Amino acid sequence: MNRIIVNTEKKLAPLGDLYGIFFEDLNHAADGGLYAEMVRNRAFEFSQIDNPKYRALTGWTKIERGGARLSLAVYDKEPLSKKNPHYLMMEVYEPGDGAGISNEGYNSGMAYEAGKGYVFSCYARSDDDMVLSVALEDVDSNVYDEKELKLTSSDWTKYELELSPSKTDYCGRLVIKAKTCGIACLDMVSMFPKETFKGSGLRTDLCELLAGLKPKFMRFPGGCLIHDGSLNSGDRNSTYRWKNTIGALEERASRRNNWEYNQSLGLGYYEYFILCENLGAKPVPILPAGYNPHSGEGVSLDDLQEWIDDALDLIEFANGAADTKWGKIRAELGHLEPFGLEYIGIGNEEVGQEFFDRYTYFHRAIREKYPEIKIINNSGPFAAGTEFERGWGSARENGSDIVDEHYYMSPEWFIANIHRYDSYPKDGPKVFLGEYASWGNTYYNAICEAAYMTQLEKNADVVSLACYAPLFANSDYVNWKPDMIWFNNHESYGSANYYVQKLFMNNQGTDLLDIKTEGFQKTTVLGSPIISGDIVLEAEEETKAEFTDITLTADGKTKNYSDIFAEGESFTIDCVNKRDYTFSFKAKKTAGPHGFRVKFGKKDDKNYIDWILGGWANGDCCIETRINNRTSAIKHKVFSVLANITYEFKLEVKGRSIVIYINGEKQFDVEDKQPVAEELYCAASLDYDTGEVIIKAVNLREEAASSAISISGVSSVSGTVYELSGCKLDDENSFEEPRRVYPKEKGFRADGEFEYEFPKQSVTVMRLKSI
Ligand code: AHR
Repeated sequence: MNRIIVNTEKKLAPLGDLYGIFFEDLNHAADGGLYAEMVRNRAFEFSQIDNPKYRALTGWTKIERGGARLSLAVYDKEPLSKKNPHYLMMEVYEPGDGAGISNEGYNSGMAYEAGKGYVFSCYARSDDDMVLSVALEDVDSNVYDEKELKLTSSDWTKYELELSPSKTDYCGRLVIKAKTCGIACLDMVSMFPKETFKGSGLRTDLCELLAGLKPKFMRFPGGCLIHDGSLNSGDRNSTYRWKNTIGALEERASRRNNWEYNQSLGLGYYEYFILCENLGAKPVPILPAGYNPHSGEGVSLDDLQEWIDDALDLIEFANGAADTKWGKIRAELGHLEPFGLEYIGIGNEEVGQEFFDRYTYFHRAIREKYPEIKIINNSGPFAAGTEFERGWGSARENGSDIVDEHYYMSPEWFIANIHRYDSYPKDGPKVFLGEYASWGNTYYNAICEAAYMTQLEKNADVVSLACYAPLFANSDYVNWKPDMIWFNNHESYGSANYYVQKLFMNNQGTDLLDIKTEGFQKTTVLGSPIISGDIVLEAEEETKAEFTDITLTADGKTKNYSDIFAEGESFTIDCVNKRDYTFSFKAKKTAGPHGFRVKFGKKDDKNYIDWILGGWANGDCCIETRINNRTSAIKHKVFSVLANITYEFKLEVKGRSIVIYINGEKQFDVEDKQPVAEELYCAASLDYDTGEVIIKAVNLREEAASSAISISGVSSVSGTVYELSGCKLDDENSFEEPRRVYPKEKGFRADGEFEYEFPKQSVTVMRLKSI
């Protein structure tokens, strides 16, 4: 007989700000996404630095209708702003039936709805008193609203008008035509829906999806984009410097986003703080530390102060009184009251001692001036290995409050490692699981993540913050998947993963309660106890390698294999079906930029373990598992393969334990844990404010799990049960079926200890109150 016992007398840990969101400007999450600007390339600043395909007139099309003649050019003399120096010069020789330009916005075109208001604005100058028309058209040039715009000044002047189309169109155009001859210069050509989320200039549907989550915090603005780029804040491709993102829009210099697009920075730090406030989420800004781990470049320690000041000034901007330098700037932007910043993160996913040398200076300066701020250090992009340990070591040495961990893994890894935090030390820095997801947006991914989250919650004394990543994807500009929320220019939906996050965030509770389970003996084994299959040697693309002295030892017998001369290709050495074996070889790279790989335990092209040596970018030594084509980097260290050097490599496999050696030196051992789904994963919390007890239970197995449930000190309960169930494991939400995976809700009442059946493959959240 299974039994779940919740002890309401035993509060184990405060749940604090456990569940939040991570807004990262990738997949066009800001421009073309949350930032409701409808004009693409409004400032004519797109450049090949952002993306090799971009030109200054990307997004714009010249219009010459019915005898019209004009020329278009992008100039930078006497600009509206030196920070965004380019503007459009339109010289009209013959207006005909339409001489001008049109903008198609993002995705398939501009999305506008009949009867709704759209605010057009631009800066313009003209010596010719030109008259323009501004219209919303469809792709066939049918006009759905049009207004006249008279240019009255030869100095840059802001113009604004409102349009309201008579028809809904999701492939529309904004069209600006000249009605008279002459020269008009245009810049910051913009159109916003009149209605945005709480008037913030952000897209209502997307913000409502965020608000629906009720996140406790929001980490922003990235991700890799914060530390990728040049170290000079004035450069177009600089790392993300917050001071470039506030103030008048035309003064925010357009930037390269490292996901190969342009960021207008219209959604800047002030707007992020306002968004946090509107969502009721605490801001968690992440700043670069004067070091770019992608290029390995860092500012010298002598030049670090500017970067440290950025961090200190940001805290003052957020929290300072209106008579401080940066507090005053915030107040002038419209927010007199402080934003109440509690957390700050230094660095995103840092690899290399150079970052940690710099971190110490940030840490000391922030701690000294703002001892109340919680400082977040980080542990790189891997869940284990030397860089991960370096991050934790730095955090312990410096006394960081929190360490940011990131991992994207297979669902099976999440199950195999579900008790990861049970053994973390209870003292010292806490964990911020700042980026995590299982690879995929299916129902299966979502329920595996839910199971994992029950254990994050149970370890709330160790894990203080957690957020799924990435948050948003514009379906036509995908840099990375899976993502929590998908959208195009007019529609949006939450993935299956979104609904799991929503269930957990909406029902976090204030305090972790003690929960005990009895029975629950049934488990489902999701993988084999041994690593068997083919062994393959591979030279990476464009890389020539010589593999010699290749041997395989199993059952006390050693087999030797012929030498291999490889050029960007794979060679299957043998198939091994033993529990324990040793594979060794020598390898020399004779040409090319990359390194080698050993695949072992290979069942097929989607299921194997990869020992990456140098790898594609020639920077890693990594063990990465692949299950159904979904990878999990389970241990990592920095390693590059040098040319014309002969290395000796050895792999020892014992059950699921893997030990690797380079030149006779042990590099690391790691266990590729066998995933075994327990009968039920559960956690309980108290919502102190409402007095409700919250029980979360996740059943990953193919059969229902029944249990008696007893809640101490409570005789009868009533409340609500939310349940995600009844889906196929590969079900996904989509624009066509946004609620294929969607929780059901039902009222619930019971007396004393009660019986409950958790459906197969389900997530259940019970919110119960004593009656
Ligand atoms: O979330 C996608 C990317 O994953 C982030 O930019 C980076 O931090 C991580 O590698």
